[in-house]
Amino acid sequence: MASIKVALLGFGTVGEGIYRILNERKEEIKQQTGYLIDIDSILVRDTAKKRLATPGIKITDDIQEILSNPDIDFIFEAIVGEEPAYTYLSDAIEKGFNVITANKKMFAKHGPALYKHAEFRGVQLGYEATTAGGVPIIRTVTNLLPTDRVRRIQGILNGTSNFILTKMREEGIPFKAALHEAQALGYAEADPTDDVSGKDAFRKLMILSALAFGKQPNWQDIQVAGIDRVTIEDVAGAFKGKLRYRHIAEISIDENGTLNGSVGPVLIGSAHPLYGVDGVDNAIIVETDYLGILTLVGPGAGMYPTASAMVGDFFQMIGKRERVLVNS
Ligand code: NAP
Ligand code: HSE
Repeated sequence: MASIKVALLGFGTVGEGIYRILNERKEEIKQQTGYLIDIDSILVRDTAKKRLATPGIKITDDIQEILSNPDIDFIFEAIVGEEPAYTYLSDAIEKGFNVITANKKMFAKHGPALYKHAEFRGVQLGYEATTAGGVPIIRTVTNLLPTDRVRRIQGILNGTSNFILTKMREEGIPFKAALHEAQALGYAEADPTDDVSGKDAFRKLMILSALAFGKQPNWQDIQVAGIDRVTIEDVAGAFKGKLRYRHIAEISIDENGTLNGSVGPVLIGSAHPLYGVDGVDNAIIVETDYLGILTLVGPGAGMYPTASAMVGDFFQMIGKRERVLVNS
């Protein structure tokens, strides 16, 4: 049976999730695709760290061991921060690897350049997991675009913030304790500052903006606030008044093509469509010319939801590759 060799960059919450899904679903994948998926290598920062056993897989801290292996076809990137991730993916694309990333910090800034580079090199680039975890918002908007025009996007784009606000409201748990819980569950970033300051949601909004409107606004024109100043007293007071805090990111385009956006905590009442979205869930409302209003809701962070979005990209890519091979 033919096999497809892949490499994982990163073996934390998300990288381990990809490994688990590809192993747990090995037989189904073989039957459905006709391929044996072979994880060849995993890149980590610290090869001495104790981690889940991965028999037969090379664990390395040297990216060149992966990039110089012509047998590897696909690279899943789930490391942290802009660099060295951007350089690794640029090099991978240049060498003809197909790449799939979850790294929103890197992708918000460098996504448009990576995308052009991938098109130029004729390789595939997947980034579903960069935005809203397991919610298939990238695929959905991509599919809408040939026929429709997006006017406005509004949503809850940070699972950690929504989880904390929910814990504060439902269980009276203070901010710090709720954040610790989000970290233990693998929802928060290793450094959760960007989660609670609004920067993470802002970056996801920029990724959506590039996709839906073909451009991003000047980053400094967007007001960004987080939930880090919302106290348990604020949440309790709002609750008494039948209101809820939600961390909402939104962006819209006007008739002149100008983008307007904001990111921050907002008090909403029960009539608002985001009122009932609790816990780690994200929700995205997309307003378009023809379809009207579409809302997607689902887990916005965590091992399996995020990894499933990446594996989803992977299978879409295998399908496309097959069509190219059949037609050529
Ligand atoms: P994590 O648990 O902190 O794991 C990060 C992994 O990357 C670790 O295995 C680490 O190696 C490795 N790594 C970090 N910097 C590296 C470098 N310079 N070179 C080689 N390896 C490096 O992070 P995570 O939660 O899995 O998140 C991974 C990425 O996915 C991040 O960009 C994050 O923003 C994004 N993301 C996360 C979620 C989520 O729910 N967690 C959801 C969507 C997107 P060691 O193990 O040796 O330390
Ligand atoms: N830390 C992020 C969140 C992970 O809580 O939304 C998903 O991007």
